[in-house]
Amino acid sequence: MPRVPPIPSRTEAAVHDSNSWKAQGSLSHYTEPSYYDKCYANRHHDIAFYETQTASAQTILEYGCGNGRIALPLARRGAHVTGVDLSIPMLESFRERLGREPKPVRDRITLVHGDMRKKRLKRRFEVVLCTFNTFLHLYDRGDVEQFLACVRNHLEPEGKFIMDTSLPLIEELARNPGRPYRVPRLKYPPTGQVVRYAEYFDYDPMSQVMRVTMRFEPFDDPKAAWSVLLAHRQFHPQEIEALFHYNGFQVLSVHPNLDDGTTPLDSLGWVARVRR
Ligand SMILES: C[S@@+](CC[C@H](N)C(=O)[O-])C[C@H]1O[C@@H](n2cnc3c(N)ncnc32)[C@H](O)[C@@H]1O
Repeated sequence: MPRVPPIPSRTEAAVHDSNSWKAQGSLSHYTEPSYYDKCYANRHHDIAFYETQTASAQTILEYGCGNGRIALPLARRGAHVTGVDLSIPMLESFRERLGREPKPVRDRITLVHGDMRKKRLKRRFEVVLCTFNTFLHLYDRGDVEQFLACVRNHLEPEGKFIMDTSLPLIEELARNPGRPYRVPRLKYPPTGQVVRYAEYFDYDPMSQVMRVTMRFEPFDDPKAAWSVLLAHRQFHPQEIEALFHYNGFQVLSVHPNLDDGTTPLDSLGWVARVRR
C-alpha cells in the first residue's frame, strides 16, 4: 500500500501556510507540459465553444494560455492572440509548438509571462478569455477583484469577457481526504516510467478551496514517489454572477457542459461584458 502523502491540515493550510500552498497549487500541475497534454488529450468541447464565441474577433487576450491548447486554434483561423501565463514551462512548450506552425500563425501569437491579476499590457482587445478553470486559481475576493480590474483595463468598450469554470458538485466536495482515488497505472510521458497514480481530494469549506494531491509512484522504485498539488477555488454559479455584478460586469449568457458536452451538468461557460 503506498503511503498517504502529507496533506496539510485545513487549519495549517488556511492560516499558516497559505502563500506556499497557493503558489504550489497554481504552478505545480503546470511544470510538466507533456504530462499536461496527456491528461487533456481528449478535451475538445471547450475549444469548439471558444472558436464559436470568438469567431468574429480579430484581437484576443487569453489569460492562462498554457501551451496553447485553445490559443493556437484561434490563431490558426486568423485571430491575433496574446497569451499571458504564469508558468514558464507551459510558455516554453507553447513556443516549441509555434516553431512547427506556418509563419503567419506564429506572427499572430504574442506570449507574455505574468500574473493575470497584475500584468498590464497597455492595449485593449475585442475579447478577453480566461479558459479551462484558470479562474479557479483566484483564491479569494481580493484576487478576483484584481483580476476583473485587469480584464476591464484590457477590453475594448464593446468587448466581451469569456471564461469557463467547473461546477462544484456536493458529492465531489464531500470526498474523504485520506482516500486515494486511483488510476491503475500510467506511463509518465517525460521519462516513460510506469507509475501508480492516485489523487487525494481535500476540500476546505471555509476558503472553498479544493486541494488535489496527485501522487506518482514508480513501479520499479516506490521510494522515489512524488506528489503534485493543484488548488482550485470552488465558485458556485450565483457567486460568479454576483462577483461579475459587483465588479461592474453584466453576464450576457451562460453555457452548460464545456467539458465534453454531455450531461449531468459539470461546467459552465460564461460570456460577460463591462456594464456601462
Ligand atoms: C488549466 S490550465 C489552462 C491552460 C490552457 N488555457 C488550456 O486550456 O489548456 C491553467 C493555466 O493557468 C495558468 N495560471 C495559473 N495561475 C495563473 C496566474 N495567476 N496568472 C497567469 N496564469 C496563471 C497556469 O500556469 C496554467 O497554464
